Amino acid sequence: MAELKNDLLLRALLRQPVERTPVWMMRQAGRYLPEYRAVRTQAGSFMDLCQNPELACEVTLQPLDRFPLDAAILFSDILTIPDAMGLGLYFEQGEGPKFERPVRDTAAIQALPVPDVGSDLRYVTDAVSLIRRELGGRVPLIGFSGSPWTLATYMVEGGSSKTFSTIKGLLYDQPQALHTLLDKTAQAVIAYLNAQVEAGAQALMIFDTWGGALSPSAYREFSLRYAHQIADGLIRERDGRRVPVVFFTKGGGQWLEDMAAIGVDGLGLDWTTDIGDARRRVGDRVALQGNLDPSTLYASPAVIREEVATILASFGKGSGHVFNLGHGIHPEVNPEHAGAMIAAVHELSPAYHQA
Ligand code: CP3
Repeated sequence: MAELKNDLLLRALLRQPVERTPVWMMRQAGRYLPEYRAVRTQAGSFMDLCQNPELACEVTLQPLDRFPLDAAILFSDILTIPDAMGLGLYFEQGEGPKFERPVRDTAAIQALPVPDVGSDLRYVTDAVSLIRRELGGRVPLIGFSGSPWTLATYMVEGGSSKTFSTIKGLLYDQPQALHTLLDKTAQAVIAYLNAQVEAGAQALMIFDTWGGALSPSAYREFSLRYAHQIADGLIRERDGRRVPVVFFTKGGGQWLEDMAAIGVDGLGLDWTTDIGDARRRVGDRVALQGNLDPSTLYASPAVIREEVATILASFGKGSGHVFNLGHGIHPEVNPEHAGAMIAAVHELSPAYHQA
């Protein structure tokens, strides 16, 4: 396997010295890029694209060919796990993900199989191996999964939700049934992420997109506890290097101290938390990844540069920061504006890493 030429991301996540702050973007391969839309049209559906390792590899590399990014992220989706559990994932135009067979009651939860990652999710690990080969050591490859809580919201609601009424009914009325579902899902996530590491993923990210919808006590019991279980079950070293894990709860800024205690290397921050305050709160326990408001990219390059400068200054001197958006890039963004953000990180961040 080719030697890694740019390991800024891995060093920053381990809070080791870096020459400048590494940068990548959540959803960096996606609809804001015309070259993505072209391959997506050719592939057919979004899931056809995810299930075709050659095309998944091609779109993974597209943003890297355009911008000087410091990481690649596997092109896939968090909902591959529930799909492999037999829920029947499909995407309705303009409505987001849906399941043909949502899991609504105790009987359905009991009957749910833990997927066989080696066969049911082989298309994902095949894509990981191919991307690693095609990257040729340019930058590290990030593998990912949804958190059990976030996956369960889709599995129980049958798709995206604003109110989470069905899963919250389950949470308060039949907590044991929900725990059974979360435990099965956590086992599947561990097997899935470890298979990605074995196939070549060099860092991992756990997306807890809907953890922020929970009360503080429910967050600890139904989201954080399972993220902790996952952190305990992951392969943390491969080919003599640590495989850092980043945990991201959108809307979780108030729980950073708890999140920093589950044994992950980094925390993802959305844009509602001041990154300097976050750093003071977590100290040297974890690195931080974030946290430009994705809507900043609607503004002019000059404004984008100012906002990047503010975040870099707020984090301050020293390692432990991976620059990113606070959530996925919006599909309407002009790619040149993403380029302006990345250029600003390259230009402005070295000053924060001088001895
Ligand atoms: O970051 C990357 O570039 C890697 C690819 C990636 C995708 N989804 C591709 C995708 C990642 C990391 C995800 C994770 C994901 N998927 C999350 C967690 C992260 C987050 O954004 O909070 C969630 C909640 C999902 C579920 C999901 N998949 C949603 C809500 C949607 C959007 C539906 C829509 O039409 O807007 C998807 C589809 C999806 N996943 C797209 C992409 C590029 C768009 C599909 C298309 O091309 O039509």
